[in-house]
Amino acid sequence: MKPVVVVHGGAGVIVHENAEGYRSGVKRAALRGYDILRQGGDAVTAVEEAVVVLEDDPHFNAGNGSVLNEEGDVEMDAIIMDGKDLSSGAVSAVRCIANPIKLARLVMEKTDHMLLTCEGASRFAKSQGIPEIPGETLISERSKERWKKNLNAGSKPNTTCQIGMGTVGAVAVDSQGNVACATSTGGLSNKMVGRVGDTACIGSGGYADNNIGAVSTTGHGESIMKVTLARLILHYMEQGMSLEEASDAGLNFMKTRVDGIGGVIAVNSAGEWTAKFSTKQMSWAAVKDENLHCGIYLGENEITPLPETV
Ligand code: GLY
Repeated sequence: MKPVVVVHGGAGVIVHENAEGYRSGVKRAALRGYDILRQGGDAVTAVEEAVVVLEDDPHFNAGNGSVLNEEGDVEMDAIIMDGKDLSSGAVSAVRCIANPIKLARLVMEKTDHMLLTCEGASRFAKSQGIPEIPGETLISERSKERWKKNLNAGSKPNTTCQIGMGTVGAVAVDSQGNVACATSTGGLSNKMVGRVGDTACIGSGGYADNNIGAVSTTGHGESIMKVTLARLILHYMEQGMSLEEASDAGLNFMKTRVDGIGGVIAVNSAGEWTAKFSTKQMSWAAVKDENLHCGIYLGENEITPLPETV
């Protein structure tokens, strides 16, 4: 089986001056995941490591660069899933760690549970030797500015995809034909303390099943949860739709049924892949057959670079 990895850096509106940062970030993440697969690594490790690259990059709303809740603190959600046996691990509303996706993987592999939250997740992180870091180190100037702007405007948390929403995710197929997904986010800017979004919820923020494929989602979390977007797309694939048709159908259903917008990346067990979105933009990158593809814009606005050989 030829390995493939696809990553996204979030659906929303990406202002021109940030476009290059998003583009280079998703490329680096996809190449990191592909390197692991090329060396015979498994899909779970590839998606985890690709997401770590994006969590460490302050352009994106995950890990370092996460948006702030109503009190000006970072609370993050993440999920990882192994399509081999449907095992999954997730964390929600976690603070003061650099890479929530690593903690999600530990939940999957070292506990009998699938989702740990808040204080319990922190205690588990400590027990696993994950260092606690000062919360401020995760806060970028951009997220602080946005938080202040929202606070002054007295606005509610984003209900549509506004500038740099930036949840991150990855899906992969390894040389053994196993699929996996990983998704990580700071959630919605100025959200209520304790708010948990779609990212931590299996079937919403992501889903992976070797018999079908894997999906990672981004967009308005409450809308994604209402339609369980990741599992919905895989359901459409089970019904015989192509990856593209299923992804479009899932996004269309979310728009028509609950007026929600977002984006998805998906692979199937045959190693085909897609990146689709109903927002203005979504940064994404994919590597297959030693070719790196990436994009940000929709349709005719897309400046599609030629695939690069890696
Ligand atoms: N999709 C990210 C969130 O709403 O939390």
